[in-house]
Amino acid sequence: MPSLTPSSAGSRNVTRVDGRVDGMQRAEVTGHRGQTVWFTGLSGSGKSTLAFAVEEVLIGRGVAAYVLDGDNVRMGLNRDLGFSPKERSENIRRVGEVCCLFQDAGLVVLTAFISPYCSDRDGARALHPAGAFTEVHVDTPLAVCEQRDVKGLYAKARSGEIPDFTGISAPYEAPTAPELRIDTSQSLDLCVAQVVNSLILDVAPRTD
Ligand code: ADX
Repeated sequence: MPSLTPSSAGSRNVTRVDGRVDGMQRAEVTGHRGQTVWFTGLSGSGKSTLAFAVEEVLIGRGVAAYVLDGDNVRMGLNRDLGFSPKERSENIRRVGEVCCLFQDAGLVVLTAFISPYCSDRDGARALHPAGAFTEVHVDTPLAVCEQRDVKGLYAKARSGEIPDFTGISAPYEAPTAPELRIDTSQSLDLCVAQVVNSLILDVAPRTD
């Protein structure tokens, strides 16, 4: 687990402890490899809808899948964080670490966070073994997200009631080379199929 390298004052004087079971043994129990599928996109782009729909399909196929959703995680683990650039980075750093643990445990973890900064997403990727991180850009244009405005947040952002709102008054850095780009003007079923078909779920050992 390369992510568990002491790097800050709080983790000085700690030493990594290795277990006696490796990823292949876990994969033999679950029947598939652990991995992270990282959905990124604007608020209202459809990340959560897509992640939960993919989870349902995977569970139906006997794959141990689990969604970490931005709004939900911000109600618990990350309830101390707001939406400044620093807090968003910390949000993604923690979630990246959780993903790393979940995939190591053998789960297919699906995340639905705006994750607006390339460097934060790259940081999450860097915690994972090669091939265990799939970045999926849920590429819904801002105009479409704003027109849907499912949670009424864009209207509040435009009126100034919500500051630092992604796409309006805070940046969104679209991925330049995601493993997958989803055009959500297609049906949800097609989007789900595109994601599911892209995943390598067999238990063959990684060659990398
Ligand atoms: S992230 O930028 O740090 O990745 P995250 O995905 O956890 O964001 O949370 C985004 C959700 O928080 C949005 O879907 C929306 O419901 C809510 N939200 C509240 N304030 C903001 C804001 N200023 N910018 C974006 N989303 C916000």
